[in-house]
Amino acid sequence: MTGIPFANLLEPGTGILGAGTGSPGVQRVTRHLSELREAFRDQAAVERLLAEGDPLLYEVYNVPVPEDPGELQHCTSVIQPGAVGEEFFMTAGHFHARLATAEVYLCLRGRGVLLMQDRAGEVVAVLELFPGAVSYIPPEWAHRSVNTGPEPLVLFCVYPGDAGHDYGTLREKGFAKLVLRDGGSYRLADNPAYR
Ligand SMILES: [Fe+2]
Repeated sequence: MTGIPFANLLEPGTGILGAGTGSPGVQRVTRHLSELREAFRDQAAVERLLAEGDPLLYEVYNVPVPEDPGELQHCTSVIQPGAVGEEFFMTAGHFHARLATAEVYLCLRGRGVLLMQDRAGEVVAVLELFPGAVSYIPPEWAHRSVNTGPEPLVLFCVYPGDAGHDYGTLREKGFAKLVLRDGGSYRLADNPAYR
């Protein structure tokens, strides 16, 4: 037997995870537009937004769990509402470093889209995110969360302890599809910069 049981406390309205009984603590990680500027199609819109400030795109409240088989990583992601030109605020997106690992998302607040693609970017899947939606990301699918609504999008995520993250593949290649504003809703478009 390894490890010591612990609990944390989730505020469903904000997604903030606070340290609870026996907790190892919770890490808050933030991503601003300047850190993700290449991910967006409209670079003129990126420059305009950066000139006005450097908007927060999302934050992650991560529970530090050993990166070992049998453990369960878990965190909340809070993606802010907004857009860069026509393209909604979104997470960087990743494959898992150990590809054969899945993930579950529970949406607690907001509206959005879970954008997924296979290794080659030839197969794309989209799931709607809304409070109560429990989304399953099978092994080997890259995943990105996109806030298509007017309020923060709050997700609770659970995945294997040793899954790890591969951000590099998508930083180089991008996603095959863009999620763009379309009136009060969204539409998918081919990413002209997809490599
Ligand atoms: Fe993941």
